[in-house]
Amino acid sequence: MCVLPSIYIHSCVVLLRKVVSCRLTMIMKEGLRYLAGVAGPSGYGSNSTAEQVTQDCSCPLPSHHHLTAIVTGATSGIGAETARVLAKRGVRIVVPVRDLKKGAQLKERIQKESPEAKIILLEIDLSSFASIKRFCSEFLSLNLPLNILINNAGKFSNKLEFSEDKIEMTFATNYLGHFLLTELLLEKMIETSAKTGTQGRIVNVSSVIHSWVERDNFYFNQMLQPNKHSGTHTYAQSKLANILHARRANVTINAVHPGIVKTEIIRDHKGFITGMHAVPFCFIFRTCGHIELHSLFFVACKLLKSTSQGASTTCYVALSQKIEGVSGSYFADCNESCCSSLANDESEALQLWKQTRALINRKLRQPRAKDL
Ligand SMILES: NC(=O)c1ccc[n+]([C@@H]2O[C@H](COP(=O)([O-])OP(=O)(O)OC[C@H]3O[C@@H](n4cnc5c(N)ncnc54)[C@H](OP(=O)(O)O)[C@@H]3O)[C@@H](O)[C@H]2O)c1
Repeated sequence: MCVLPSIYIHSCVVLLRKVVSCRLTMIMKEGLRYLAGVAGPSGYGSNSTAEQVTQDCSCPLPSHHHLTAIVTGATSGIGAETARVLAKRGVRIVVPVRDLKKGAQLKERIQKESPEAKIILLEIDLSSFASIKRFCSEFLSLNLPLNILINNAGKFSNKLEFSEDKIEMTFATNYLGHFLLTELLLEKMIETSAKTGTQGRIVNVSSVIHSWVERDNFYFNQMLQPNKHSGTHTYAQSKLANILHARRANVTINAVHPGIVKTEIIRDHKGFITGMHAVPFCFIFRTCGHIELHSLFFVACKLLKSTSQGASTTCYVALSQKIEGVSGSYFADCNESCCSSLANDESEALQLWKQTRALINRKLRQPRAKDL
């Protein structure tokens, strides 16, 4: 009676060892690949820049002058580089901005390099449903086509803050705001695609940090109004939601991890800097036990991507013909990549989509005090 369980336990230990060693070997291989910038099946890798991936790809149209893209969060970091490179390739860029002054500076910078570039600035606050609605009606009144939507804007906060719709601020901005933006622009994208015969594309900028979220820590109502707040965890939940969103829309939509890039997103948050930059290591150290993020900071800094490398996956997924027809996928370093099993879960994606639609419908029907 006692022998069977002990064999069983022993087998489990052996199996577990095998799994861990396979996983470690895989992680080591991935790590070396990343460090060496080895190209994947797409012909690009972690070292590829946004300029390289858009120069080399065969483009969906003979000239990009017909394409119009909306790039959120383009006043800084990865979004600014994405907008610069797409504009350089002749794409008309609509930039939704919180601060028109910052937007004007971006426009000036881009047009200095590409004098022909067409840049349109419109105001938006992605944490506010009312502001997103205003932006969309302003954009739609311009009667422009819409080929590409890049849901890039993002925020991280260690403080628990609430949006004007009374929703936790990071989740409201990173996920809900982009969900509503996508919903309100979908018809225009479908119409453009039907008129031009060019497939429309949506890119959700997510993060590898999404894999930190466990199933029992992903409850919609708690994400709207959390009891406890951890900045990193809230951020990771919003990034998981970005991937799940990319599994549901009925147009071509993919999610990307841009890499770990030193941008403004981490300027005020030392703890977060440590967490964010240590992400590639977390998979290794999670297997081994406790992670001391602060001690990893120094090493991790050596692995940061430049913004031009950070914008490459977004630009690749937005323009490359190689991913024509690919939808609901997750990309990193310009290649299709694996995301967590939770991010792959179709029923989780459907449930999140239904809950989000219900919330948005409810909120949009509610008159706000200042509108009365
Ligand atoms: N950096 C990384 O290592 C890393 C890694 C993985 C994923 N990502 C993702 O990459 C994306 C870009 O991040 P980044 O690193 O380039 O950060 P960043 O330099 O801080 O840029 C963030 C952008 O989002 C805009 N934004 C923030 N809140 C907004 C709101 N309520 N309404 C409208 N715009 C808003 C900011 O506008 P203002 O100029 O007005 O502040 C800024 O343009 C994010 O989705 C982020 O989660 C980054």
